[in-house]
Amino acid sequence: MSDPCLMEIESLSTAANLLPPVVPLTKIESPQNVSTSLAISNLNGDTKENLAHLINNYVQSLSHTKMHILGFPVNLDFDYEALGQLLHFHINNAGDPFMGNCFALNSTSFELCVLDWFASLWGIQKNEYWGYVTNGGTEGNLYGILVGREQFPEGILYTSNESHYSVFKIARMYRMQCVKVATSSSGEIDCAHLKASLLAHKDKPAIINLNIGTTMKGAIDDVDLVIQTLEACGFTPDRFYIHCDGALFGMMLPFIEHAPRISFKKPIGSIAISGHKFLGCPIPCGVVITRSKHTNSFSRDIEIIASRDATITGSRNGHAPIFLWYALKKKGLTGVKKEVERCIANANYLYDQLRDAGIGVVKNEYSNIVVFEKPLDDGFARRWSLSSSGNIAHVVVMQHVTIEMLDLFVSEFAQKRFLWMHYGQKEVGVFKLCELG
Ligand SMILES: Cc1ncc(COP(=O)(O)O)c(C=O)c1O
Repeated sequence: MSDPCLMEIESLSTAANLLPPVVPLTKIESPQNVSTSLAISNLNGDTKENLAHLINNYVQSLSHTKMHILGFPVNLDFDYEALGQLLHFHINNAGDPFMGNCFALNSTSFELCVLDWFASLWGIQKNEYWGYVTNGGTEGNLYGILVGREQFPEGILYTSNESHYSVFKIARMYRMQCVKVATSSSGEIDCAHLKASLLAHKDKPAIINLNIGTTMKGAIDDVDLVIQTLEACGFTPDRFYIHCDGALFGMMLPFIEHAPRISFKKPIGSIAISGHKFLGCPIPCGVVITRSKHTNSFSRDIEIIASRDATITGSRNGHAPIFLWYALKKKGLTGVKKEVERCIANANYLYDQLRDAGIGVVKNEYSNIVVFEKPLDDGFARRWSLSSSGNIAHVVVMQHVTIEMLDLFVSEFAQKRFLWMHYGQKEVGVFKLCELG
């Protein structure tokens, strides 16, 4: 009589044969060897050849790794070859971009065009806004929340418990009282809980951080409902400040039909995005826009740079605004819209594939983030650079993510899951997700 266990293994290997082959990893130097050769220990400096060899190796490993980046909201599909010559220059935008500075190697003319583009996207007139190109979403949040805090030094910061970790760090840095507001199962701020929290602190102004796309689930806080809630609790516009953390979705939503509108036509104070997320950039960067009336409280004229110090850092990356400008100028509004639509369509495709493979999956409307049960195998999660939280993980379907990558990912996931269920941890099937949106 045949051994049932062996039969199961046989049928498994037959099933495995039907699945696309797992692409073998090309040989990459072990981390120990790499770090030894990278060590800066040669007294007389290294040869040009040796340096070129080390960098080539690194570039190879980057090119390989790029094919499997699924879990992070970064667009890796860009071509800035034409800007390579800029690396021959140090470009520095210290100071207020609207004033320029006395360091002539600056790119503030590019920066202003980028800021104008975002100001128009978010519905604020040229003469009514102020902003700058930041080092990323975190700096944009640091700036926006600082503007709120300067306006209301005694204000309380309210933000949902699914906010990015930078928001809680900022509350600690600024020593602000921070109220964590509950969320719905889809990840949006729970306005009933917000209302109760506001009523419990009616005597203090409210500084609200809203998520225009939470990091894990891509949930969009309802700006209109939050404003209504503030009004219902007796908070008039002179007693609240709203910062919108739109790291990824801030520049996607304006291109999605029927999606909620994030706009300065509403009583919000600032919006921040990460430039390297949807737009794509080889270096981290971002944009923050606020109303010009808010900016004077902590800016100071600085003689040595012949400018106004109004930003979080002193020296500012002068290359980043040129990358952002180049991407926007090349794509145009139509190009950006097409990319947004393709990412959402591919995210819907991934959702269907995972569901059809029997894997617990959910996705918010207007989102390119597909949330699913956390894979039980760390190696698998690392191979696809998945990001996880508790019992969920996600794929962020960005521009470099092709249907081929998604098919390979789903087939590997299904294959691994089958093995976990039969020979590994049995609780895989216990994971339950309610339908969202
Ligand atoms: C919602 C949200 N806010 C802020 C950030 C921080 O952005 P950055 O990494 O550009 O500082 C992220 C990053 O993923 C994010 O998802």
